[in-house]
Amino acid sequence: MPLRHDLPPMRDFQLAKRFAWDPQAIDFIQDARDWAALDPREQDLLNRLFSMFVAGEEAVASGLAPLLWALGRLGNLREEEMFVTSQILDESLHVEFFHRWFEVTGPVDHSRYWGPAYRRIFFKELPQALEALLTDQSPRTFIRALVVYHLTVEASWPKRDTLARSWLVSVRAYCPDCGKASSTSSATRAVTWLMGSTPCSACSLPIPLCGLTPTTP
Ligand SMILES: [Fe+2]
Repeated sequence: MPLRHDLPPMRDFQLAKRFAWDPQAIDFIQDARDWAALDPREQDLLNRLFSMFVAGEEAVASGLAPLLWALGRLGNLREEEMFVTSQILDESLHVEFFHRWFEVTGPVDHSRYWGPAYRRIFFKELPQALEALLTDQSPRTFIRALVVYHLTVEASWPKRDTLARSWLVSVRAYCPDCGKASSTSSATRAVTWLMGSTPCSACSLPIPLCGLTPTTP
């Protein structure tokens, strides 16, 4: 069957390709200079923020595979699968970006910044919700996975990044390369995919939320 280029997941897939970037292409030279000029409290703020991101990006990059696999099991959702494939690449790029960041600014014990709520979301709720799809592709399990990943991790978490980064840029004109991680725009695509995806022919909900009853084109 031909690809449905008009479907929302395919439009998001095209955006993902159009905004492709490479963490290796960022030299971080100015960031390294700026880092040295920050006071210890400012360095601690950035270490706190990015220590949460580095583990969060790793958790989603490695955790999304069951979602892709489960979509394939349901069949007739090729465009949705292609978008999720681009999301996994996005998350891997974020992993690389934050690792490169710490290579420049110096090693940090990330775990000292992970509080109980953070550990619960990224090390317990997220993997449990996604791995449940390996044995159960029911609507309930899909909804749980998508709410934890797309609505909790992707929709709310990047706002902390945006707020902290805005503060650093406005107050200290700092962190010129932070925006290149594009974590917010790829998060926006993830949420857009969930909420704006193809309506189910049976219930009219976006397919990822309705239990993935495949529509007939
Ligand atoms: Fe990410």
